[in-house]
Amino acid sequence: MMKPKLLQLTALRPTTQERLEDRFQVLSWPADEAAQEVLLAEHGADIKAVVTGGHGGISSALADRLPSLGIVAVNGVGYDRIDLGHARARGFRVTNTPDVLTDDVADLAIALMLNCMRCLPAAEQHVRAGRWPGGEVPLARRASGLRYGIVGFGRIGQGIARRLTGFGGSIAYMARSPRPGVGHAYHADIVSLAHACDVLFVALAASTETAGIIDAAVLEALGPDGVLVNIARGSVIDEEALVSALVGKRIAGAGLDVFAREPHVPEALLDLPNVALAPHVGSATVETREAMGQLMLANLDAFFSGKELPTPVV
Ligand code: 8YV
Repeated sequence: MMKPKLLQLTALRPTTQERLEDRFQVLSWPADEAAQEVLLAEHGADIKAVVTGGHGGISSALADRLPSLGIVAVNGVGYDRIDLGHARARGFRVTNTPDVLTDDVADLAIALMLNCMRCLPAAEQHVRAGRWPGGEVPLARRASGLRYGIVGFGRIGQGIARRLTGFGGSIAYMARSPRPGVGHAYHADIVSLAHACDVLFVALAASTETAGIIDAAVLEALGPDGVLVNIARGSVIDEEALVSALVGKRIAGAGLDVFAREPHVPEALLDLPNVALAPHVGSATVETREAMGQLMLANLDAFFSGKELPTPVV
C-alpha cells in the first residue's frame, strides 16, 4: 500500500522522525520559496497530513494549497498559529500534545525566576571569565517568600503554582473564572493581580483575545520591584511596553523564554543585567520531546485508522 503523503514543517527528534517515515511519505518543507512552489506543484494535491510545531503552526494560505489535507498534528501544546475556524470550515482535524510538557515548562518558569532574581547568568559568567579572584558579584534578590501571581491557570499555570508552594509566600491567579477547589486568591483582572504580586508569571494560551494583554498598565501595576516571567507566547505581551519598562526600570526584571518575533530578541534586552533570556526551550528536553513525538504520532495513527483522536483540538 502507498504511504500517505505528509508535509513536515518542523524538526523532530530522530526517533520520532524514523517512526514518521515508517508510516508516511514525508516531504520536508524547504526554506527556499521556489522549492516550496515545486513541492506544492508536485505533491500539494495529495498531501493528507501536516506535522508542525506549536509556535510555527500553519498559515491558512498554505493549508488552502493542500486540498486533501485531513489533519494537522501539532508537536506542541499551543495552536495559536492555526486558524481553528478555518480548520473547521475546511474540515481538517487539528491535534496537539498537552500534559506531557507541563512539568518541563513549569520547571523553566521557576528557573527563569531564579536566574533573573539571583542573577545566575551574570554570576556564572563572573566565574567562567576568571573574575572571581578580582572581586565579588553584586548582591542579588531573594526569590522565596514572595507574593506570586499567575496569569492563566490551566495545566502549566497550575504546575507553576505547585512548584511555588515550596517557596513559601502566597500565590494568586487570574483566569476567566475561579477554579473550584483552588485555595489560592483569585483575581478577575490582570492589573489587580499585578498590583498584588511581586513576581508575575504569564502562563496564558495565546489567541486573538489575549494578544498584548500584558500591556503598559499591567507593567505599571507590577511596579519597580516586580518581576515578570513569560513562558507562554511572546504575543501575549506588548513587547515594546515591556522593553521600555525594563530599560526605564519601571519593573525590576524579567525572565523570558518567548518573544514576539522569534528568533528575533529585541536588541535592548541583550545587555540588560536584570533580564534572564532563553530561546523558547520550555519543552526542550529529551524526555519531553520524546513524549510529545509519541503523542503526535498517536494522533496521526488514530486519524489514519479511523479511531478517536487522543488529543484533538478540532
Ligand atoms: C515547542 C511550544 O517549542 O508546545 C508549544 O506550544 O511552543 C513548544 O513546546 C514547540 O511546539 C516544538 O515544536
